[in-house]
Amino acid sequence: MAPTTKTNRDLSRKRFERAKQSLVEGVNSPSRGEAVFSPGPIFLERGQGSRVWDADGNEYVDFMMSFGALIQGHAHPHLVEVVSRAAAEGSHFAAATSAEVEAAERFLRMLPSAEVVRFTNTGTEATMLALRLARAHTGRQKFLKFEGHYHGWYDPYLLNAHSHPPEQLGTPDHPARIPDSQGIPPATFEDVVLAPWNDEAALKRVLREHGRELAAVITEPIMANMGCILPRDGYLQRLRELTRDYGVLLILDEVVTGFRYAPGGCQQYYGLGPDLSTFGKALGAGFPVGAVSGPHSILDRMRWGDDMVLHYGTFNGHRLTMKVVAANLDLLSADGVYRKLHATGEAAILGLREVFRRHNIRAVVQGLGPMFQIYFTEREAVNDYRDYCAYVDTRRYSRFVHLLLDLGVYMTPSNGLHWIISTAHTEEDVARLVDAADRACAVLA
Ligand SMILES: Cc1ncc(COP(=O)(O)O)c(C=O)c1O
Repeated sequence: MAPTTKTNRDLSRKRFERAKQSLVEGVNSPSRGEAVFSPGPIFLERGQGSRVWDADGNEYVDFMMSFGALIQGHAHPHLVEVVSRAAAEGSHFAAATSAEVEAAERFLRMLPSAEVVRFTNTGTEATMLALRLARAHTGRQKFLKFEGHYHGWYDPYLLNAHSHPPEQLGTPDHPARIPDSQGIPPATFEDVVLAPWNDEAALKRVLREHGRELAAVITEPIMANMGCILPRDGYLQRLRELTRDYGVLLILDEVVTGFRYAPGGCQQYYGLGPDLSTFGKALGAGFPVGAVSGPHSILDRMRWGDDMVLHYGTFNGHRLTMKVVAANLDLLSADGVYRKLHATGEAAILGLREVFRRHNIRAVVQGLGPMFQIYFTEREAVNDYRDYCAYVDTRRYSRFVHLLLDLGVYMTPSNGLHWIISTAHTEEDVARLVDAADRACAVLA
């Protein structure tokens, strides 16, 4: 059966018109609004497990999962109970609490590279703090970021985090430096060295030139903001060795990958020992949180004193969030959790590949276990930012996802994001996805 566009979204449409009177573009982040969804966003009102319901009562299997935050799906009964009980006792004291200690102890148990952790409220705050720590620790100002990597919306990270037409990118040796936002003083970017990712030769060249002046290299272990691009074999390990050779700190930004691939994140999965790691999303299972972890020798620079690295925040270690973090990490420590996440994700990847093959549609389904992306492209793989900018048909992807939305699958039509498998997803959900993809392909083809 071909999908229809008859899904009733009258209430979503009405609410969006109203929202636009009081909120910029009717939303609180451009990734949720008209720039992505046509004719406008679907207003979600309720979630349970892997499912969400919109304002008009339409049900969807959710594969966006709050941009990856909902590792346990929606309204996990244990987390609901924990947070309800905690809220009744008082939400937050901005004082020392047992809740933050319980969260920290569990965090450190799961992450062998970490001697100590500092909680923030978002991934952006975590990457901000990590850079400040790295600069203070090394006494150097500059840092290296990779093209197409996103580390939150802190000023110096907002260089080439978006995709652009390939003719605007410059060469890999001399990448064009394209700010992602107005309002950032150009001088901010003078301390940013930009390099292509997944390219060992380019990395060596850049480090030869700038290595001794860099405080840090920051990288996502899996490039998760141009879809889902895996590191080439040995690339991250080489990055670790080379940064060490130049006395540069390696900041592994695990905001997306942390607690998703293994109890100890991608660093465990790939056997890496970063100097600093940043977390967010899945750590809080839907509650706002971030974290920076690493050795005492670096993080203890935040200890009070004349030469300290300052990190304040009324809501740091928010009590309700810390209760959820501790309970979430307990759930993730149970036997078989990661095996199931990987197996469910692999089933979805294989199922989708088969659908595109059957319909003779050129598409790459790329990723690993619980996180993947679909690229409509003539290429065999998308290996970096430049491939993404040059060869991926993002409009076709958006059309495909809009078809899926009408078939009861919720996902953002933005190709730069990625499909997420949570512990709540089942074989039946994967079957629904594959069936919907099959029907969407019949229309696309
Ligand atoms: C790799 C990465 N780092 C940092 C961030 C920022 O996290 P937050 O949105 O919680 O500020 C994101 C957000 O998507 C991210 O993908």
